[in-house]
Amino acid sequence: MGLPLLLLLLTSTLLSTCFPPGSMVNALYSFRGADLSIEPGDHVNRDTDVTLRCKAIITISDNEEVTYFYTVIKDSIDLYTKTTTIDEFEYTLPKVRVSNTGKYECKISINGTEETSKLTKLTVTGLSRPELRIDKTEVTEGEEVTVSCRAPGETGSIYFTFYDNSNEIIEKRATSNELQTKLRLSGSSNHSIYCTYTVSISPTSVNSEKSEMVKVTVKELPIKPVLTISPRDNVFEGDTLSILCTVDNQHSTERLQVELSQGARLLAREYATIQHSLKATAPALMFECGLNAGSVNKFMTGSVSVNELFLAPTLTVSPREVFQHDNMMLTCSSEKQAYQRLRNTELIYTLNSSDNALTMTGTGVFNLTAPMYDFNYTCAATAKGITKHSEILTVRPKVAVSRPFIKVHGNAVLGQLIQIHCWSDHGTLPINYTLLIDERKLVTITIRLPNQKAVFNISINKTEDINKYSCAAKNGMKETLTSSRLNAAVIVPLSHPSTLVVPESGEIYEGHLLTLFCKVNGTAPITFMWYRTGDRQPLNTTNSNQTFTTYEVPKVTSQHSGKYYCEAVNQARNIVRSEEVTIEVHMAKWKKALIVGTVLLLVSGVVLAIVVYIKSRRGRRGEATDLSVKPASPKSDDTFRVTLTHDTEVYNAPTVMAVRAEESVWSHRSPEADAVVDEESSMVTNNPDVEYTEVVHPQPVDPARVPLRKGTDTVYSELQNSPHGAADHHDYGSVEYAELNNSDQPEMYQFHPEVDSYQDLPEPVD
Ligand SMILES: *[C@@H]1O[C@H](CO)[C@@H](O)[C@H](O)[C@H]1NC(C)=O
Ligand SMILES: *[C@@H]1O[C@H](CO)[C@@H](O)[C@H](O)[C@H]1NC(C)=O
Repeated sequence: MGLPLLLLLLTSTLLSTCFPPGSMVNALYSFRGADLSIEPGDHVNRDTDVTLRCKAIITISDNEEVTYFYTVIKDSIDLYTKTTTIDEFEYTLPKVRVSNTGKYECKISINGTEETSKLTKLTVTGLSRPELRIDKTEVTEGEEVTVSCRAPGETGSIYFTFYDNSNEIIEKRATSNELQTKLRLSGSSNHSIYCTYTVSISPTSVNSEKSEMVKVTVKELPIKPVLTISPRDNVFEGDTLSILCTVDNQHSTERLQVELSQGARLLAREYATIQHSLKATAPALMFECGLNAGSVNKFMTGSVSVNELFLAPTLTVSPREVFQHDNMMLTCSSEKQAYQRLRNTELIYTLNSSDNALTMTGTGVFNLTAPMYDFNYTCAATAKGITKHSEILTVRPKVAVSRPFIKVHGNAVLGQLIQIHCWSDHGTLPINYTLLIDERKLVTITIRLPNQKAVFNISINKTEDINKYSCAAKNGMKETLTSSRLNAAVIVPLSHPSTLVVPESGEIYEGHLLTLFCKVNGTAPITFMWYRTGDRQPLNTTNSNQTFTTYEVPKVTSQHSGKYYCEAVNQARNIVRSEEVTIEVHMAKWKKALIVGTVLLLVSGVVLAIVVYIKSRRGRRGEATDLSVKPASPKSDDTFRVTLTHDTEVYNAPTVMAVRAEESVWSHRSPEADAVVDEESSMVTNNPDVEYTEVVHPQPVDPARVPLRKGTDTVYSELQNSPHGAADHHDYGSVEYAELNNSDQPEMYQFHPEVDSYQDLPEPVD
């Protein structure tokens, strides 16, 4: 063998090993789908032979062979499978039934390639008539009959239903096309029995026609229960009823069991006869006598209506409104229904009560004291062994109102709205609160909520009017309680303030003590504020328990010139403002005097020079000029009292001024003279009334000094210890200033503020 021949043989062996005949590669075919057809049609009558034809849609070359796997599917469930080499398969449904109705498809698989036909629905119509069989057509009461129903030739899932006189009595699913069951026919004697069946096909079901009707006769048992109640009429509560439950049994010698029941309550169970007696109760009684004979239950019912002997009592209270511990009366009474049977004395009343002091003052009349808290009372009436209870009567004792309190809420300000609160600590609501003025009723408020106070708004024009108010509280029929009189401090709003400057304007000199007074009328405490016009912030704020205040500048300078005013406010919250006062500070007198003295010294020097010159010319001697020096008067007291007088009231300011002597003292006859010096210093030498005294003291001034006094004129003394005096005027006592103003009391300063301006203001209240 040559090599080419060997190669050919090898190739053909390999090929036949790897690709067996009929495979896709070797086989030349094209598989495109599956087709299902139903013959003779998809709507057929029962008993038709139906063929399902399943065919592969395939093109295949001659001599080729493929294997087909067929699956017939009904309602998504595989019905049948077949493997064949033929491209067509027939599945036969012989003598179809309604249960063959469904949706069919066929699936073909070739070498793992699957194709499924489209769904095709087969509908089969026509059910066979059901056949009913009954073993007996005549039975006695309670006996059972056996019935069976058949669906001839039917397949699938079948339900059977039995009817008695057209009433459905049994429905059951069968495992085959026949169902057998037992029936117990009750009641009337004639029964017509028939049956039907239902074949269920997804998703619905098909009903058969009715079977033929079979008549069954039921014969009643010759036994029955008998119920006798006596008496039947004119029965009253408490009467004794006799009940007899027995069996009317002429034909049977059997001892049967009877039962007597009242409603759901079994009274007795006996053989043959029950004799029962009981007390009648209203309004009606129902009895049942029953017997049980094997499978048969028979009943007889009977009822009796019962009249009430007396009605359930009613409980009432009087008075309707009771307060804790008050006496009250509870009355329990019942209406009689049968006078012939019930005498008056036979009804006995009782009351539930925790009160030991309970007394009965008549038939069903109870006297007792009201409880502390809500109490539920019930009473009972009893006669002939029958007790009837009243409904619950809840007695809610009221709590008497306690003496009310009266109080001003917030501040009581004269002329403004004043809120008055009135309340009681105890008392059942609602409570009426009445505002009284001098026992006269003004207005009444009803309080209905707990912890609420009655609120009254008033306004008064006189402070003492506040004490005329009181309030009264009342709840229910109890007496009215009145509070004490209203006791409250009335705040008088502040009047327009008046001011005073000491010393008076125009006489203020550098280094002097300047005192500003501010005075108002109204209720203290008062907050005073001093302002200098143009400033935003007050110079000084003082809380005072008095109606005036002072503002002091110990050593004024020209810087202090300006306009000042004061403001005041109290709890009435009305801010009042004074007129402005103008302060003008003049140059100190000693400075002026120094200037004048210097001028005088110069003039005297010139004169002296002229005199010396003339004398030297004449050769004669003259006398020198003498200057008189006086010591400053000692001061007796370093404080002044200022008394501010207004009508009959005297305000004592404890400290107003501290004045001490300075080293140099300038005395004037009068302020008028001083003013002349200020304005016309050149005329000083021409005025012989002015006295100038200059004292030089290295030590503090003698405290025993008395103020300078010259007749009735005003005397000013100004002494200067040292130019570097300490800030506290008490200690350094640098300035002494006294204005005696013709007064005989040197240490009292009589101050008469503008009396007229106060007269229309309210009186201050302290
Ligand atoms: C009274 O009876 C009523 C019901 O009728 C009940 O709600 C209430 O709590 C009772 N009161 C007292 C004090 O027993
Ligand atoms: C005013 O008087 C009250 C009580 O009398 C006192 O507590 C208070 O300190 C006084 N206020 C002044 C500024 O004196």
